[in-house]
Amino acid sequence: MTQLKRACSTKTKDDVTVDLPSPLEESEHIGFSESGRSVAMVNLRDLIVCPVCHAALSLDDIEVQGSGCCPNCGRRYAFDRGVFDMTPLPPPDEILKSKWHTWEKLQDNGLVSYVKAPELNLSVGFREDAEAFMNFCQSSGLMLDVGCGMHTYPSYLPEGADVVGIDPLAGEKRRAFTFVKGIGEYLPFRDETFDHILYASSLDHIIDPKRSLADAARCVKANGRINLWIDGLSDEEPSTNRTRFGRYQILAQKGFSCLSRHGWFSKMGFRRTLSYVASVASMEVPEGASDCFHFVHLNVPIVFDWLNELNLRVVSQMDYPAADSVFIQVMK
Ligand SMILES: C[S@@+](CC[C@H](N)C(=O)[O-])C[C@H]1O[C@@H](n2cnc3c(N)ncnc32)[C@H](O)[C@@H]1O
Ligand SMILES: [Zn+2]
Repeated sequence: MTQLKRACSTKTKDDVTVDLPSPLEESEHIGFSESGRSVAMVNLRDLIVCPVCHAALSLDDIEVQGSGCCPNCGRRYAFDRGVFDMTPLPPPDEILKSKWHTWEKLQDNGLVSYVKAPELNLSVGFREDAEAFMNFCQSSGLMLDVGCGMHTYPSYLPEGADVVGIDPLAGEKRRAFTFVKGIGEYLPFRDETFDHILYASSLDHIIDPKRSLADAARCVKANGRINLWIDGLSDEEPSTNRTRFGRYQILAQKGFSCLSRHGWFSKMGFRRTLSYVASVASMEVPEGASDCFHFVHLNVPIVFDWLNELNLRVVSQMDYPAADSVFIQVMK
């Protein structure tokens, strides 16, 4: 999601911290979403494989010992504070290796923005744009949320849904759905597992979006759907050779027009807004990035090129100009 970028209604709620059992326990678990309604927890035992070579893993061993190796490729995965960490380290391919350092800095900046202004940068509480995406997706069955964020329950997920979320940020709070730490480029799930896969404002944060879409195509069922919410749409060619000042100017223009369009000063309060804007202004734009949160801003032609190359068929598309967004649903 483009920071400072999304439309929202007035009502926001704080995340609630909930204490949930380990996703590995046998029984079907019940957690609680933001609204307090119960949600089912998904058993990861049937789903997880090595994200790199797709060999079966013993999650029991990883959980009990705190870490364990893939029996096929030898990569090590961890279990920490109730969460399986399936991040493939070191990064498995040249594209990820070359951009990893920059991405970590972008993630550090993102983390500050998610903590300081969650309602601006995450689907927290009721948001018109999040609700529009949920209505667009019409998701059902087993869902995967790629780049689900660090909050308790994203508001674009239907109540009571069977959801697995994956994100590189483990966060401090227990999520009210089954969560795996990892990256979208190397999904740690069996082939043809999910009915619906969602990317809500996350594709433009991923180092290699095309690789991630290819892996999502592997993990979605034959007649399943992949749903994209792409925001912060750019009408320019992606460029990383603007001056530092030019990059801040664009971010500031977009940010301030968004803040004023949606009355964020009054919603967040003047002091909090100023403190947030000041912290964004002081962030470093790492080498190779287009601003302090993104490598590039996506646009519809770029995404359609990837979808064509991956033989993913567009089922429906909806523009959502109020938040400079487009929703796209594809199947393989
Ligand atoms: C703007 S937030 C959106 C979070 C959530 N989908 C929402 O709308 O509330 C973007 C998310 O993408 C995640 N992200 C960044 N790089 C990623 C990657 N390589 N794979 C998966 N998620 C990634 C970030 O950690 C962050 O949580
Ligand atoms: Zn492996």
